[in-house]
Amino acid sequence: MESKLAKIKEKCLACEKCNLCATRTNVVFADGIPNHKLVLIGEAPGYWEDQKGKPFVGKAGQLLDKIFASVGLSRERDVYICNTIKCRPPENRNPLPEEKEACREYLEAQLEILQPKIILLCGGVALSSMLPQYSGITKVRGKWFDGPYGSKMMPIFHPSYLLRNDSREKGSPKWLMWQDIQEIKHQYDLIP
Ligand code: URA
Repeated sequence: MESKLAKIKEKCLACEKCNLCATRTNVVFADGIPNHKLVLIGEAPGYWEDQKGKPFVGKAGQLLDKIFASVGLSRERDVYICNTIKCRPPENRNPLPEEKEACREYLEAQLEILQPKIILLCGGVALSSMLPQYSGITKVRGKWFDGPYGSKMMPIFHPSYLLRNDSREKGSPKWLMWQDIQEIKHQYDLIP
C-alpha cells in the first residue's frame, strides 16, 4: 500500500496538468495514516497547507483534529486525510471544474489503493466530486451513501463552516457534527 501511494505521490508532486502548478508553493498530497478503514476527503489546500505541503494544518485542520479526538480517533493512528484537489487555488477560490478534472486521477488512485470502508466527504466540494447528483451539504450530511470499492460515504460539514457558526445548541452545525462523528465512530468500530 505505502509503495503504491509513494509512486502516485511522486507523480502528483511533479504534476503540471492545470494552471495551479504555476501558483502553488507545495503540492498537498495527503497526511495521516494509510489504512483500509477511514479516509477523509476535503476541498483544497489553503494558505497554510500550501506553505507546509500538508492538508488541514490551519485553523480548520485544528478543529478537525479536535473533532476526531472527541471520539478517540487521530490522524497519526487512524485516519488518512486528502483533498479533492492537491494544489491551492489562488485566494482560496473554489476549484474550477477543469482543475477538479485534472486532479481526479490522484484522488481516484488514492481510493483505489486504500479501498477504505468509510469515506468522509468534508464539505461541498468533496460532496459534488464524489456524489455529483447531490448539491447542498445541509440536506445530505450525516447520511450514508454507497461509495467506490464497497465503501460507505458520509458527507459532513467542513470545519471552516463550523468555525463561522459558533452555536452548540441542539440542531446547530456543531451539534449536528457531534451527532455525525459519533455515528462515524460507531460504524468505524464495527469494521473488523
Ligand atoms: N480545507 C480543506 O478542505 N482542505 C485543507 O487541506 C485545508 C482546508
